[in-house]
Amino acid sequence: MKAAVIRSWGGPEQFSVETVADPEPGPGEVIVELHASALNWHDVLVRQTGRGFTTPSILGIDGAGIRQDTGEKTVIFPGLNWGKNAAAPGKDFSILGDGTDGTYAQLVAVPVENLFPMPKHLSWAEAAALPCAGLTAYRALFMRAGLRLGETVLVIGAGSGVSTFAIMFAAAAEARVLATSSSQDKLDSVRAIGVDKGFLYTDPDWVQQVLEATGGGVDVIVNGAGANLRDAMACLKPGGRIAVFGASAGSTAKIDIADLYWGQVSVLGTTLGSPDDFGHMLEMIDKYQIRPIIDSVYSLTEIVEAHRHLESRNHLGKLVLSLR
Ligand SMILES: NC(=O)c1ccc[n+]([C@@H]2O[C@H](COP(=O)([O-])OP(=O)(O)OC[C@H]3O[C@@H](n4cnc5c(N)ncnc54)[C@H](OP(=O)(O)O)[C@@H]3O)[C@@H](O)[C@H]2O)c1
Repeated sequence: MKAAVIRSWGGPEQFSVETVADPEPGPGEVIVELHASALNWHDVLVRQTGRGFTTPSILGIDGAGIRQDTGEKTVIFPGLNWGKNAAAPGKDFSILGDGTDGTYAQLVAVPVENLFPMPKHLSWAEAAALPCAGLTAYRALFMRAGLRLGETVLVIGAGSGVSTFAIMFAAAAEARVLATSSSQDKLDSVRAIGVDKGFLYTDPDWVQQVLEATGGGVDVIVNGAGANLRDAMACLKPGGRIAVFGASAGSTAKIDIADLYWGQVSVLGTTLGSPDDFGHMLEMIDKYQIRPIIDSVYSLTEIVEAHRHLESRNHLGKLVLSLR
């Protein structure tokens, strides 16, 4: 099979597209003939430093393809060994592609319980865009922040893959959706998927703008930027909830503890989700006929360009690899 292989960690140029041996299924595993994969910021972080994994390595969390055992179209749940606790994964939890061969390849071996029917209304590219980012957004909004009908949600960094899902899910749940971005063009574009009002986080007074537009703050924030936690918390109503799923702007944040307790604020960490969350997310995708936002589709041989594009932060939504 063809795969994008990494032999030493570093920049996007470390990928080389090679012919490698087909994977052998282990006990309880099925081979999936992948039609598409998708990029996640996580892949950039692993590619840069390896995070303790060994080379040669095939990265890639997301995938959609055909099960070799049944011939059915499938989308892959990317968590391995979540465990029995719905509140958090167990100590053996890992992600497909982290220390196992992932989906930047034409074939992948995955546990049979990770295979879910592909939503019928989606293309291969749309289905591959779904797993990691869609699941993270779904769990952040509903399982962690407990979004309720009619509430106001602020999605931080509208361009992110996770954020575009959060916008569509919150809009489907009949929330009022606000978003921030570094780009007015992105804010204009996300109006089409449910954003009522956008704010440039590059404006020094963006927090004040949110407070004025909402008459005192929002109920729920979905935040993958991380380092802006203090400013983001200032956008909440008293009693508000903020789900933090990433650290795109930096992994440390300074907050005033008094803002936490006087504001009765709930700060909720979250990432990915359980197999049950994944099933519920697919039901929502099907019920509302939601289609992932795809920025661009690259062939496997264009993996270097695709990673450069992700790192440029010029994208809106997901970058996808077409594998056949
Ligand atoms: N992809 C996943 O499924 C997943 C799952 C779990 C956790 N995470 C984590 O979540 C984060 C985002 O992942 P992603 O794949 O969705 O990223 P992504 O598609 O690369 O998007 C990152 C976005 O973050 C926004 N951003 C950067 N600096 C910001 C700041 N100072 N304030 C506000 N927003 C800022 C930008 O939005 P604008 O372009 O609109 O300015 C940027 O486009 C990463 O830390 C990742 O490790 C991702």
